[in-house]
Amino acid sequence: MCGIVGYIGDKNPTEVIMAGLHRLEYRGYDSAGVAVVNDQGLDCVKSLGKLKVMDALLAERPITGALGIGHTRWATHGVPSEDNSHPHFDMDKEIAVVHNGIIENYQALRASLEADGITFRSQTDTETIAHLVRKYYAGDLFKAVQRALQDVEGAYAIGVICKDNPDVMIAARHGSPLIVGMGEDEAFIGSDVPAIMKYTRDVYYIDNGQVCEIKRGQVRIEDLDGNPVTLEMTHVDWDDAAAEKEGFPHFMLKEINQQPEVIRNTLRGRVEEGSDEVRLPEMNISVDELKACQKITIVACGTAWHAGMVGKYLIEKFAKVPVELDLASEYRYRNPIVPPNTIMIPVSQSGETADTLEAIRIAKSLGAKVASIVNAVGSSVARESHGIIYQQAGPEIGVASTKAYTSQVTAFSLFTIWLAESRGVMDKAQAKQMIAHLRAIPDKIQTILDNQDVIKRLAATPKYRDAQSALYLGRSFNFPSALEGALKLKEISYIHAEGYAAGEMKHGPIALVTDELPVVCIATQGDTYEKMVSNIQEIKARDGLVISVATEGDKHILAHSEDIIYIPECYEPYSPILVAVPLQLFSYYVAVNRGCDVDQPRNLAKSVTVE
Ligand code: G6P
Repeated sequence: MCGIVGYIGDKNPTEVIMAGLHRLEYRGYDSAGVAVVNDQGLDCVKSLGKLKVMDALLAERPITGALGIGHTRWATHGVPSEDNSHPHFDMDKEIAVVHNGIIENYQALRASLEADGITFRSQTDTETIAHLVRKYYAGDLFKAVQRALQDVEGAYAIGVICKDNPDVMIAARHGSPLIVGMGEDEAFIGSDVPAIMKYTRDVYYIDNGQVCEIKRGQVRIEDLDGNPVTLEMTHVDWDDAAAEKEGFPHFMLKEINQQPEVIRNTLRGRVEEGSDEVRLPEMNISVDELKACQKITIVACGTAWHAGMVGKYLIEKFAKVPVELDLASEYRYRNPIVPPNTIMIPVSQSGETADTLEAIRIAKSLGAKVASIVNAVGSSVARESHGIIYQQAGPEIGVASTKAYTSQVTAFSLFTIWLAESRGVMDKAQAKQMIAHLRAIPDKIQTILDNQDVIKRLAATPKYRDAQSALYLGRSFNFPSALEGALKLKEISYIHAEGYAAGEMKHGPIALVTDELPVVCIATQGDTYEKMVSNIQEIKARDGLVISVATEGDKHILAHSEDIIYIPECYEPYSPILVAVPLQLFSYYVAVNRGCDVDQPRNLAKSVTVE
């Protein structure tokens, strides 16, 4: 998984590309490179490591030209190294290519190119594209790329430039995200909108199998067979500042603090003021289909899967439809059964997760209706689904998902009300009340955020900051919260953490409890509160360091807890949205206190676009 950027126009391409790559660094950050076309031909600077290394190199040896392409890499084929970093070239360094994706038949292609006398410089799959384009190049770069891609199997978003063509850049896509941005007498390519939105808001979302010939202020698009394609331009009205940190030290903290606004945005346009009606027309499901629905299958990965688990609990409780919840990576290999009238709900922040996409394709081929909860507008998941609920959460840059999670749970909450009402199992009064509960959530999140110093102080205490491992326990709606809390802690602080259904504690985890083990117990008011208190007492009796997440005003729990994080009183089914916030903050501050790279944790990347 990598990020690509390209530029043609009057600006210095290196500056535009580096600005874009910085916005894309969340997609990968083990090495980077930029190539430009100038009077000397193709000039290139590459570096191993994060983009700041590239910045330093470019300061020493600036390059510029008529146009350029750049890349930030997260290795899939070939270890992170300067040789393996992009752009890649043909033997004579006439063609340069940046690529995001995986060429599945690269070994066969490489063998055949080597048999033709071609020498490879890297271990990457990408280099085959550069040699193939050179092989087919006879003065028309567009045609050469089109032809080369006919030999290629796999996923790609590519940018291609040629030393003989200072006025044209080629881009193509199959399976990996790609946009083309237009400006006056200039044009851009990027893996996503934030990469270029400092310069333009007018973009084309390029589709699979499309190849673009990009000149200053112009783009021509064809499919691989040379048939012309007309795309509609989208004007993106995101605030440019949304892609910056807005004064926060990390994107993750910024995104945690954005959640009141994000939840409002997720609700925006879906529930009218004072109304008892949820409107989700873009889901593209008729009331008849909702009535006929026999089964719902939720598929997702990582944090989105935890949101899916809350979704399952909500749908089954209120809409009375059986819900199957699957990790997309399991679903795709387990011969799933898709009875008639099944609705699949994939959940994905990026909309580009390879396993989720494959699960969608399988479910569609077996007759399911697919309606996704997605954040990234125009992403592959969005395009391959019959319908969508866009999360409207804005770009999420921090690798650890925060605002995307709470907005996914909010989207499930909306869907549940709509489904339950449509099926006649929820009356208008209840729907109205539930909508009111949802509307109250942003202010309650704000209260938690306003009091985050308490959590900050807790996270700085050595007993938590220096912990070797931690346990998270919750029940019912907050079992997924326990899983998500543990995931957040482990991914950014590298403390081993496990989330468990509290009822399972006696079946194993209790053996881990010592006076050095922090145990985060989610014990907010609700049906399982008393059970959680019993669990807490059992842990306390074994000297565990209980941190309770409890409802404001709960004094009873004080006696049993080492520390307490209070959240405002909340309607229990929606409490996971609130509970997520202090758990995110706790992980964030622990990680910062341990000196971890919060926005770019080791070995992780924001979206997993390959298996
Ligand atoms: C990666 C990210 C997670 C995310 C998961 C699923 O693991 O680090 O934050 O939850 O992928 O990604 P998606 O974009 O499909 O929600």
